Amino acid sequence: MPVTLQAPHVAPAAAAERTEHWWHRATGYQIYPRSFADSDGDGMGDIPGIISKLDHLADLGIGFIWLSPVYASPMIDNGYDISDYRGIAPEFGTLVDMDRLTAEAGARGIGIVMDLVVNHSSSLHRWFQAARASRDAPEHGYYIWRDPGSDGGPPDDARAAFGGSAWTFVPEVGQYYFHFFSPAQPDLNWQNPALREEVYDMMRWWLDRGIAGFRMDVISLIGKDVDERVYEEGPFLHPFLQEMHREVLAGRDVLTIGESWSVSTETGLLYCGHDRNELDMVFEFSHIREGWHPELGKFAPKPFDLVAFKHAIFSWQDLTRDDGWHALFLSNHDLPRQVSFYADDQTHRRAAARTLATVLHLLKGTPFVYQGEEIGMTNARFERIDQYRDLETLNHFESQIAHGVPPEVFLAGANRNSRDHSRTPMQWSAAPHGGFTTGTPWIEANPNFTEVNVEGDKAHPDSVFAHYRRLIALRKDSDLVCFGRTEQMFADDPDIVAYQRRLGDERLFVIANFTGREQLRDLPDEVCGPAECVIASHAGRDEVPCAIALAPFESLAWKL
Ligand code: NOJ
Repeated sequence: MPVTLQAPHVAPAAAAERTEHWWHRATGYQIYPRSFADSDGDGMGDIPGIISKLDHLADLGIGFIWLSPVYASPMIDNGYDISDYRGIAPEFGTLVDMDRLTAEAGARGIGIVMDLVVNHSSSLHRWFQAARASRDAPEHGYYIWRDPGSDGGPPDDARAAFGGSAWTFVPEVGQYYFHFFSPAQPDLNWQNPALREEVYDMMRWWLDRGIAGFRMDVISLIGKDVDERVYEEGPFLHPFLQEMHREVLAGRDVLTIGESWSVSTETGLLYCGHDRNELDMVFEFSHIREGWHPELGKFAPKPFDLVAFKHAIFSWQDLTRDDGWHALFLSNHDLPRQVSFYADDQTHRRAAARTLATVLHLLKGTPFVYQGEEIGMTNARFERIDQYRDLETLNHFESQIAHGVPPEVFLAGANRNSRDHSRTPMQWSAAPHGGFTTGTPWIEANPNFTEVNVEGDKAHPDSVFAHYRRLIALRKDSDLVCFGRTEQMFADDPDIVAYQRRLGDERLFVIANFTGREQLRDLPDEVCGPAECVIASHAGRDEVPCAIALAPFESLAWKL
């Protein structure tokens, strides 16, 4: 039940009455089902596998699981192409398994947040099958069709995110349909009221089964106007989200997180402002895009620039100071492993993993842990293209090679940024394939599972898992960590992240070395002196020194 949160729990400037929800103190954990735990030896993770690992998650202390899609799907995009929104993919289990997961997680105080993928369906969904067979079928209007251009080709030259034209021709109806992603993922036509009602009805059906909310896949695309070639944050987006709120979400204490690759600090509060009645928070990617080449994109990553990264992170802290709420993450199933991308996955792997966690988890917002992050899992370092499975990587490989990019250049980019790095099997133990399966995994395990695995990490004195557990517990118990306002320090420093959090008279000071070199800094008087060290990547210190020496990837947080 929501309770009303009033001063002194919020900083003075935000003292207006505000409702506290369960997800303000909770930490989320993302599961990518096909790579988490395989219960039947077919090489593919499944729902019974997830159930068998719930104690691991309860031990970590998380409040909810964001479950990547488990719905029926031909799996062209690993489940982000749904052919039945109320069915479970047989390789993952059954609806009975799904209900059991919800119940067993619930018994451990863990909610299940499902992935809602309704910008597009699978081309094998019965709606699309009807739509492509006849212009007269009611479902024809559930998708976006246009007549051929004057030359008989596509209506325009829009490109799909996974390569090729965004339009595919269907001879039976003599029209092209629009797909922002692959041809197997036709976009749903949100301007059709019957389609919207189908989606709302399906959402109510899942919520009535007891799930805790939805992570909404590329939700900023649903308001598109293809004729104007406006795809992201189109003119209908916010009216549709408000309608969805009225029709489905109002009156239910559930969590909604929208994924948006285009949201900026200009538009962020339109989604999650307190009076908007749309979503609770958004996954935004400005800090991720910082690491991509501006024209060539993710497969041509540029060197990590900490100052630009901090600017992105802290501008969202500023934005959500008095309104809205933020989703904090560095990794997910579309991104590389954070310890490899931002830090050091070799010599300083454990310290770096702990420090990245400290920096993220002590910010204001709801933090998300991606499976394996809690033990510092790393990028796979594949050497050949045939080790990759992701259609985005494989399609871009083909087209870039056709455009003359040398394979080794593409592979170097993919080795840094391909989505498959986060999709290799979860490393539970030093057993074959990291204990993920007794069969042959659908994608190779990272060979470092012999050193990096849950069993080994939990037994290690510098356990990454133990560090995450402490951070997650800190948030649960501390108003300062949950609601304090954030003030960045050392904004222009290319090697250090530092900030304070303030709530009433309480202050938290966080400092982290983002390099593999020792760093010496003078600290301002306002933070120096005896203080309670609440977490440290290395040894704790019972005072904030006026001149601090930080070891490679060392981080500390003190309550002042
Ligand atoms: C975003 C998802 O996170 C990604 O995995 C997927 O490929 C696209 N949306 C299309 O659904």
